[in-house]
Amino acid sequence: MKKHIAVLKGDGIGPEVINQSLKVLDAVGLLFGHQFQYEECLIGGIAIDQTGSPLPERTIKVCKSTDAVLLGAIGDPKFDNDPSAKIRPEQGLLELRKTLGLYANIRPIKIYKSLIHLSPLKAERLDGVDMVIYRELTGGIYFGKKEKGEDYASDLCLYNKYEIERIANLAFLAATKRNRKLCLVDKANVLESSRLWRKTVQDMSKHYPEVAVSFLYVDNAAMQLIVNPSQFDVILTSNMFGDILSDEASVLSGSIGLLASSSFGLDNKLYEPVHGSYPQAKGMDIANPIASILSVEMMLRDFKMTEEADVVMSAVDYCIENNILTVDINKKAELKCSEVGNAMSKQIAKYKTVSIY
Ligand code: IPM
Ligand code: MN
Repeated sequence: MKKHIAVLKGDGIGPEVINQSLKVLDAVGLLFGHQFQYEECLIGGIAIDQTGSPLPERTIKVCKSTDAVLLGAIGDPKFDNDPSAKIRPEQGLLELRKTLGLYANIRPIKIYKSLIHLSPLKAERLDGVDMVIYRELTGGIYFGKKEKGEDYASDLCLYNKYEIERIANLAFLAATKRNRKLCLVDKANVLESSRLWRKTVQDMSKHYPEVAVSFLYVDNAAMQLIVNPSQFDVILTSNMFGDILSDEASVLSGSIGLLASSSFGLDNKLYEPVHGSYPQAKGMDIANPIASILSVEMMLRDFKMTEEADVVMSAVDYCIENNILTVDINKKAELKCSEVGNAMSKQIAKYKTVSIY
């Protein structure tokens, strides 16, 4: 099979981790006879530096015409401490999500047995943790009308019913294929927009009688993720709550460097690690490439390349079990980001798919 992939390495550790993902994809391509064609495009701070825009026209054009988008990370501290900056790297990502209509962001949280000791939580609390967060990605406070005066500023949190329905449908469907539990996280005791989420999800739940629906206020959900994380199966939530809760949930596994995500749109799909650009580590070859590699695994699965995705997953499992890991999750014999990528692709190359008998 031939697949055309837009590669947006972005800022900070983005290029380093994406390079490992491409190694892994090349190994998969070689093994299964697929042709993965990459087209690199600029986004974020590096795009501002080179073109003046965080999302150049060419990037949009390429992303729209490819089978999938792989993204590294966005953000550069040189823009962070200037609240008056008109152009910021993050605008590139937000605009890309909006332009491609990527309304659903899917963030699976998985625990690896051999890494449990790295979690800030006690091992017994992690028993049975396996959840996925469905975060709305193109609405809410991120995209509402913004206003600013001399001494006031405001960000509107607006949701239309159809924006809730389309992601809720995906979350319900995911729940039917998983443990048939869906928890809507909102702030319906305070926010009108949350009450619309709650009513919409309540109404929709009639069409999914096999799914047990529960509701949690976001403050309580933040606590429940720590005290009893195994209660969750599918979490459905709005853009900002999903942003915050997914970072929180990511540490359950011991490192945010392990979490991948996919974003669905009307036509396009984008895959990116949940972690940010980690500028302090930029160019040091120490970042954990697993989140980025697992994003590739999600992409292969969506391409219906199930065996290929399984091979990537088993290479990740192999590296985790054999301590072939970067410093964030391996203090003793830490490997470089590129070494972990090499080990993964080597492991994939060893996999035999075709029997000669
Ligand atoms: C994320 C990131 C982004 C977000 C930033 C970089 C704009 O934190 O993907 O979670 O807030 O959505
Ligand atoms: Mn985030």
